[in-house]
Amino acid sequence: MSTAAQIAQMKAYTDAATSGRYAKRSGLVGKYDNVRRLWEDEVTRFFLRPHLEQLIDRKASQMKRVRIMDLGCGSADGYELLAGIRRRDADLQEFEVTLLTSAVLGLYKGVDLNQELIAQARDQYGQNPKLIFQQANFSAGLPLVGNERPYDLYFTSYGTCSHHNEDETLIGLLAEIAERTRDHCLIVCDWLGRYSYEWQTLWTNDLPENRNMDYVVSYIYDKEERAQKRDELEHLRLRLMTRQVAEAIVQQAGQRAGVEIKALQFFDRSVLTGRHMDTAEYNPHAQPLRQAVNSLHEASVRTDLSQLLFDYVPRAGFEFINDYFEHLQMCWNSLVTFVDELMVKYDEKSQQYLTPPRPIPASYPPALREMMERMRRVVEATGWLGYGLPRENIIEPQLGFALRHLVTRLQQGLGCAHGLVGIFEVDKSGC
Ligand SMILES: C[S@@+](CC[C@H](N)C(=O)[O-])C[C@H]1O[C@@H](n2cnc3c(N)ncnc32)[C@H](O)[C@@H]1O
Repeated sequence: MSTAAQIAQMKAYTDAATSGRYAKRSGLVGKYDNVRRLWEDEVTRFFLRPHLEQLIDRKASQMKRVRIMDLGCGSADGYELLAGIRRRDADLQEFEVTLLTSAVLGLYKGVDLNQELIAQARDQYGQNPKLIFQQANFSAGLPLVGNERPYDLYFTSYGTCSHHNEDETLIGLLAEIAERTRDHCLIVCDWLGRYSYEWQTLWTNDLPENRNMDYVVSYIYDKEERAQKRDELEHLRLRLMTRQVAEAIVQQAGQRAGVEIKALQFFDRSVLTGRHMDTAEYNPHAQPLRQAVNSLHEASVRTDLSQLLFDYVPRAGFEFINDYFEHLQMCWNSLVTFVDELMVKYDEKSQQYLTPPRPIPASYPPALREMMERMRRVVEATGWLGYGLPRENIIEPQLGFALRHLVTRLQQGLGCAHGLVGIFEVDKSGC
């Protein structure tokens, strides 16, 4: 083949490269890193699942499908999150486990102020007539057009409610949702947590005065680039939230609408793995734990487990939070060191421990004991496999899931993490 003909064939690679599908993917960095996909999305799904399941059943009993409005949808991220909720996780035999199937979804409407993100969402999902997108400002009221029917689920994700820097706009929006609800709806509000360790310098006991933060979007760059681009970095003004304040906002909205907006659940998401743990922008003591957890879940990458060990530095005047984080640190580190010891003691050739692993103390919290026992079984069941990098591809990801479970069981839904999420309900069916 001539060189010219060979060059002509190169177009196949050029097309592939420009389509973006040839891009090097890594779960170690970027918006959709391993922590986002495997911890944050999954923890949100875990808490939403029972409520979405009930909602779907409720609509089915009325011979209706579910209508969803995603406020601040970005490039349809909420759709992807919700569509990924499974009916359950545990069994092995079934293939079709999706909760929000196409047959169940009536309509998903994504709303965002950002034109580029709306265009991206339309690019990806525009061919599906049940997924529609609208550019609108949710601070100016509920974006309903003409006689558009109300929705069954009003969804927000990843701190979107923190764009309501003045509580009044959120109160107004929630009140409008409640007023327009005919029978029943669910509302999911997602804020930045007031007491995340990653911004410990911003902690305050003067909640009415110190409400917002200057959020710098520096985490998308690595350390050197961050330093070089410091003056060009984008900043957002965002509301920080505690559960107590969120409850007060929702109560005010309910009073205004003349109907109760009932809190069903609060949870803290990304307690030690918020994006600014890695940047240490707002806390000089923050350690890059997100990076270490990303590495645990990255295929065929070996993680230095000492990078996961966490040394909480308390802040005077915040004893109730200090106690919580100290407890969490002790549990987290106990699990990490236990797994490290198991791997040191396990002998692949003889398929047993060189010296027996230390017993799990009965005094440890149940969630920690469960996860230590689970990891002991994982190491024994897979440590001898040899092929397929059992440490990198099985034991480390399982340690990631065990740490996720531990943090999820210990969280209290108070605003002590990157994200604080509230799930609410308006129910007029008995009125
Ligand atoms: C933190 S991002 C979350 C995006 C997406 N929901 C996700 O899960 O990745 C917040 C989103 O809210 C949008 N937003 C901010 N203020 C808004 C407003 N007043 N009205 C509508 N959308 C807004 C932003 O453009 C952005 O896409």
